[in-house]
Amino acid sequence: MKKILVTGGAGFIGSNLIESLLEKNYQVVCLDNLSTGFEKNIKTFEGDKNFQFIEGDILDYQLLLKASKDVSAISHQAALGSVPRSIKDPQLSNRVNIEGTLNVFKAAVDNKVDRVVYAASSSTYGDSPDLPKKEEKIGNPLSPYAITKLVNEMYADVFYRVYRLNSIGLRYFNVFGPKQDPNGAYAAVIPLFIKAILSGDSPNINGDGNHSRDFTFVANAVQANIKSLEAPESLSNEVYNIACGNSTNLNELVDYINELAGTSVVAKHRREREGDIMHSLADISKASRDLNYDPVFDIKKGLELTINWYKRNI
Ligand SMILES: NC(=O)c1ccc[n+]([C@@H]2O[C@H](COP(=O)([O-])OP(=O)(O)OC[C@H]3O[C@@H](n4cnc5c(N)ncnc54)[C@H](O)[C@@H]3O)[C@@H](O)[C@H]2O)c1
Repeated sequence: MKKILVTGGAGFIGSNLIESLLEKNYQVVCLDNLSTGFEKNIKTFEGDKNFQFIEGDILDYQLLLKASKDVSAISHQAALGSVPRSIKDPQLSNRVNIEGTLNVFKAAVDNKVDRVVYAASSSTYGDSPDLPKKEEKIGNPLSPYAITKLVNEMYADVFYRVYRLNSIGLRYFNVFGPKQDPNGAYAAVIPLFIKAILSGDSPNINGDGNHSRDFTFVANAVQANIKSLEAPESLSNEVYNIACGNSTNLNELVDYINELAGTSVVAKHRREREGDIMHSLADISKASRDLNYDPVFDIKKGLELTINWYKRNI
């Protein structure tokens, strides 16, 4: 039976991934410092003999070495997300996202781990105006967070060349779904909008609502992670767009949520947020070709499942 270390496993994507890994009979070690993740996200796994939780920090190298001993792969999801958070405290995002990832890669080398699958980000496309985004063409980073995710990819490349570390980076595009935190200053747009609409409050749209994103239901991201963990050894030192290949603007998003929730809440518009790009849309053909990635949940199906989850959980 294969044993996987999931860093950031108490977070949104990590905990959804662990649920699927346990269903597939993997042994899972979850390392998380609970800074933005929650114990409630992993509560249902406690008591499963294949699950172990270690509360700790990826900045603690000795702990990371211990947690990754005898694992066949590492799924590295731990990071401080959010562009605004990184603008407020760039040093902290730099430390966790760059030094933390460097620790994960080095622990993988020291423990001869077969593969690392790590969370990269669509923010790496930065100011590139090209649509849809293709893996080989990025622009200049627009935030400290984007720099950290770009440096992760650069380290993965150098670790492949220098130590032959086998890695796959997944550039997620606006992932949403159950267990995503709707609270706090750095909440993402979909949980914020769903929470507001379910409470009868107007969601706040930054700008005229024509900004569009390639919103990706979390089950698609989980599928990509599992396919990457199980991919043949020959696939290494690659990065993939993980998205749906369709974009939705914020006005449409509010309409969809109202339609699915059976509500008719009207959004408020406020001024555009600095640094927000207008459109984001992925070309997912590389992941389809190499990983057989198939995003079976479109935005509406994903929203329906997500709204139902929030109805039960907020
Ligand atoms: N959600 C998205 O749309 C999206 C998009 C692009 C990239 N990503 C990346 O995907 C990954 C997972 O994101 P998420 O949305 O699940 O966020 P999340 O905040 O829910 O999960 C991150 C987890 O990492 C943990 N963590 C943070 N710092 C840590 C540290 N120093 N040591 C140990 N654990 C630590 C947190 O407690 C949390 O449980 C992150 O790397 C993020 O940058 C997410």
